[in-house]
Amino acid sequence: MDTPAISDRTILVTGGAGFIGSHLVDALAPHNEVRVIDTFATGDRAHLPDDVTVIEGDIGDPIALQRAARGVDLIFHHAALVSVSQSVDAPRQSNRTNLEASLLVLEQARQEDARVVVASSAAVYGHPEELPVSESASTNPPSPYGIQKLALDQYTRRYEELYGLPTVALRYFNVYGPRQQGPYSGVISTFLEQARAGDPITIEGDGQQSRDFVHVSDVVRANLRAATVDAVGEAYNVGTGERTTVRELAETIRDATGSSSQIVHRDPRAGDIRHSGADTAKATRKLGFEARINLESGIQSLVEADSAASTGKDVGSPPETNSESGTYS
Ligand code: UD1
Repeated sequence: MDTPAISDRTILVTGGAGFIGSHLVDALAPHNEVRVIDTFATGDRAHLPDDVTVIEGDIGDPIALQRAARGVDLIFHHAALVSVSQSVDAPRQSNRTNLEASLLVLEQARQEDARVVVASSAAVYGHPEELPVSESASTNPPSPYGIQKLALDQYTRRYEELYGLPTVALRYFNVYGPRQQGPYSGVISTFLEQARAGDPITIEGDGQQSRDFVHVSDVVRANLRAATVDAVGEAYNVGTGERTTVRELAETIRDATGSSSQIVHRDPRAGDIRHSGADTAKATRKLGFEARINLESGIQSLVEADSAASTGKDVGSPPETNSESGTYS
């Protein structure tokens, strides 16, 4: 199914300078009036196109938020404290952004009668009882981060029931792609950095744990569909349906970079989830979304972008490995 073009709208992207938010802004900015609210604590101004309105501020600040949201008809809510371990160290701090301030965003949407698409997370499921995990699976998040995302996910859906606001919650699996950086940035960017430097690639535990890695450009497409889908008041998984072990990932990255890094094992991460993988049936059926980029080509394009950056060449998006066929491989 083709992704609908969204044009001539007034749109707010919270966390719009961050990893996922900035890719979404890139897709929206040419055809819409786009505003971004971001604290720039982890977001980067360099990732924003010139023609967006930037409000430097916190979504927890009602004045800043009100200014950013005035007159919008669509809000993509991506501002969050994304580190699971930080949420364990300081649950109230992450709760303030991930839940309390997020409620301000929902309230502001209500005020403006704007559709809201909220970044939820596969973290809501905790340790899945069955794989792949469907949206109706039990939710039992082990971390404050997961608890906060679950509460936000439920509020998002209830705002449709209680107030008739068109809302959608997108439950992201493990998102990767360009601009993912920093200490909490995810295993793919960590392994790529290690491989490029020739440093040991550090697997936590035995490496047999698995994840569903979804490319950020697919995540952008899921957001664009959520902006127009009729089936609102719902949560949708955003993943590929394919699982890859951390060991396979380490080998794929070492091969793709041609690195001579050793692959080493260290202690497993406390509270790590063993396996995670999306059941994509509901998103395919009701959201009209299917991931198109498989892990090999997504990693290949990251490696090429890196070598192009060092030679000054431009590379496009990764090739789509599944356009309409339904076979993802
Ligand atoms: C990720 C998200 C989290 C989201 C969750 C949903 C990131 C950074 N975190 O958590 O926000 O709630 O998915 O499912 O995207 N690993 C190594 N070596 C490393 C780093 C990681 O072996 O150097 C392993 C970890 O132990 C883990 C796996 O790789 O088993 C994935 O880790 P990570 O990328 O941090 O993501 P999640 O913990 O799955």
